[in-house]
Amino acid sequence: MTETPNLVAFTPERLEKVKEIIARYPEGRQKSALLPVLHVAQEQWGWLSSEVMDYVASILSLEPVEVYEVATFYTMYHLEPVGKHVIEYCRTGPCCLMGGEDIYGYLKQKLGVEPGETTKDGLFTVKEVECLAACGWGPVFQIREKYYMNLTRERVDEIIDELSK
Ligand code: FES
Repeated sequence: MTETPNLVAFTPERLEKVKEIIARYPEGRQKSALLPVLHVAQEQWGWLSSEVMDYVASILSLEPVEVYEVATFYTMYHLEPVGKHVIEYCRTGPCCLMGGEDIYGYLKQKLGVEPGETTKDGLFTVKEVECLAACGWGPVFQIREKYYMNLTRERVDEIIDELSK
C-alpha cells in the first residue's frame, strides 16, 4: 500500500476495512481486492469519481486504468453522482415477459426520469441493468442490497412512497 498526497482519503474506519479486505489475498495479489474496495469507496463517496478511482489504484498499487476498466464494466458502480436511492431494474427478457416493460415505463413516468437520470429532488436515480438473478420473481428492482420482486404498479407506488419519507 502506498501513501498518496491526494485529498481523497478513506476515513480511518474504512481504511481499516480496506486493509482487512486486502489481507484476505496472498502477497502481490492485492488486485483481487479491487471489487470489494470499490464497494467501500462507493459507500463513502456515493459514486466513483476519477479522483476516487485514482486513489483506489494507489492503495492497491495498480495503474488507474486497471481500476477504470473494472469500474466501467459493472453496472453496480456509479460513475456519476446519484440520488439517495438508486433503483436498478432488470431489463432482461424473462422480467420483460412478466410485465417489466409496463412496470419500468410506469416507474419512469412517475419519477419523470429516464435511465441514468436523477429526480430533481435528488431522491431517486433509475438505472437499467441486466439479469438480477431473480428471474422467477420478475419484474424486479434492486435498491441497494434489497430486492423488490413480483412488481405491480401498486407496489411501485408503495415503494416510492416508503422511500420518499
Ligand atoms: Fe430479470 Fe433475471 S431476467 S432477474
